Amino acid sequence: MPYKGLLMKKINVAIDGYSGCGKSTTAKIVASRLGYVYIDTGAMYRAVTLYFLRNNVNTEDLNTVYSALDMINITFEKNNDGSSDTFLNGANVESEIRGLEVSSNVSAVSALKPVRDKLVAWQRSIGDKKGVVMDGRDIGTVVFPNAELKLFMTADIGIRSKRRQIELERGGKDLPLEQIKDNLLSRDRMDTLREESPLRRAPDALELDTSYLTFDEQVQKVVDLAKEIIYED
Ligand code: DC
Repeated sequence: MPYKGLLMKKINVAIDGYSGCGKSTTAKIVASRLGYVYIDTGAMYRAVTLYFLRNNVNTEDLNTVYSALDMINITFEKNNDGSSDTFLNGANVESEIRGLEVSSNVSAVSALKPVRDKLVAWQRSIGDKKGVVMDGRDIGTVVFPNAELKLFMTADIGIRSKRRQIELERGGKDLPLEQIKDNLLSRDRMDTLREESPLRRAPDALELDTSYLTFDEQVQKVVDLAKEIIYED
């Protein structure tokens, strides 16, 4: 294969999976290793949820939901250390959207059709030009069904809970393991059982169980899979 590696194509990488499998942390580093843009779609749903909570939006009334969505502008800004923060209508909400109040309400808000329609349209427009690594629940099934690389990440629930606890501790939040586990399990249930774009493995998605992989191993695996496609003949 004398020309292998000379032709480079730009692809989209879709990463879906259960809460707390390390999708976002993996996707972020993979994007920077490939020189791609990383889009955290969970942060978008979280920011919408925060807006709804702050403004007591009645989610039973779809007209109210549509009007509220028109008032929401979400942006991401990169920090010097390479991480990025989520802004809701110009204010940094990165810490607040990771808290338990938003975490406990985000699955219900993300099950609303108007919310999904708006965010999916936006996500598609970002991925139009390719060169995007996007993580969420419906990226390989709904947002980019033609993504060149699709991954479905899984991990043991005990391991997921522990990882999330450590992540929260780093942000100064101490929570009992059982509470974190209950939150993850109830989000899994709602994300999988909802009518609108339920969390599902796309038939052509590769399953990646991260339970016993180190973080570096899981990043390397995804980078290798992406490079195989980027440089294929
Ligand atoms: O990835 P995360 O845990 O930050 O996502 C928060 C919630 O948002 C999750 O419980 C389900 C929802 N979500 C979704 O429905 N579709 C996406 N593409 C991303 C997240």
